[in-house]
Amino acid sequence: MKKKKRIGILTAGGDCPGLNAAIRGVGKTAIVEYNMEVIGFNAGYLGLINNDYFELKESQLSGILTVGGTILGTSREKPYKLVKNGGSDRDKPELIKQNYKNLRLDCVVCIGGNGTMKTANMLSKEGLNIIGIPKTIDNDVWGTDITFGFDSAVQIATDAIDRLHTTANSHQRVMIIEVMGHHAGWLALYSGVAGGGDIILLPELQYNIRSVCKKIETRYEDNKPYSIVVVAEGIEHPKGKSAASFIAEAIQTYTEIETRETVLGYIQRGGSPTPMDRILATRYGSFSAQCIAEECFGTMVAMKNNKLTTAPLDEVGGKLRLVKEDNPLISKARKMGVSFGDEYI
Ligand code: F6P
Repeated sequence: MKKKKRIGILTAGGDCPGLNAAIRGVGKTAIVEYNMEVIGFNAGYLGLINNDYFELKESQLSGILTVGGTILGTSREKPYKLVKNGGSDRDKPELIKQNYKNLRLDCVVCIGGNGTMKTANMLSKEGLNIIGIPKTIDNDVWGTDITFGFDSAVQIATDAIDRLHTTANSHQRVMIIEVMGHHAGWLALYSGVAGGGDIILLPELQYNIRSVCKKIETRYEDNKPYSIVVVAEGIEHPKGKSAASFIAEAIQTYTEIETRETVLGYIQRGGSPTPMDRILATRYGSFSAQCIAEECFGTMVAMKNNKLTTAPLDEVGGKLRLVKEDNPLISKARKMGVSFGDEYI
């Protein structure tokens, strides 16, 4: 008789809505369809290093689809980064390999963003069977068109922009809203367009404060005495203050129009996933279990042109998928008068 496959699941990096849906997708398919045994590692790669895990039975996977966060916990532990631990360096990759062997694992499913995929690729190169699942509200994982968590964050940010619109209008103010995204502006672009932002600033596009102020003044002259400016946290700004407060101060100084700022922060990562994220995470999770059954290791599950597929971890690890200047949504928004702050550069 064929040996039952035994697999581990971990969630690493910043949390996002849909992690539990993905864990459920992997676990239920592995148990119900493929008769595998499943364990969950606590707190991302820390659980693999410290042999901190628990058996995941099918009953534990019920009732978690809609729940935010992750039942496994997460951390930003990077096992390949040498950190002094109590005066001595622990060989974390070696510990991981030993635990993997002692637990008689056939695969570890690593759910995470770019950093997680980089580590997943290194572990795969060391001979472990690894499958990656891409998640992040930033939507910047290389090798896939979409990560789960993004749709929920767009929904949250858009709702915030809608609310800021009414108060901006009432007070005839400029409202700045800062959304997450250190390197990638997907969230700013999508929530900015969905929320009808007048100016959208992305880390990928160089902006000029003159262009930003000009747009606000033109709106004022055109009897639109309020403006909504959506900024990604990673746009160029001095250290020590938020991108939003830097832009707000500059606008107030140059235009003398009353300006207020809102930094949305971790609200964007919390709470229940949208239906689209539940479905995407479920599809990724279930497909990962299929990949394990088919022994298609060293890959990340991905969505390309609306089709589920896999991308080699070797090609994914360490890369970012950024917004390109010629993104069709940017061109459409420009044609409707939205400013990206780069008109007078
Ligand atoms: O990677 C996702 C993300 O939410 C980024 O958008 C954000 O800049 C970062 O995580 C915040 O990280 P941390 O949870 O470590 O503060």
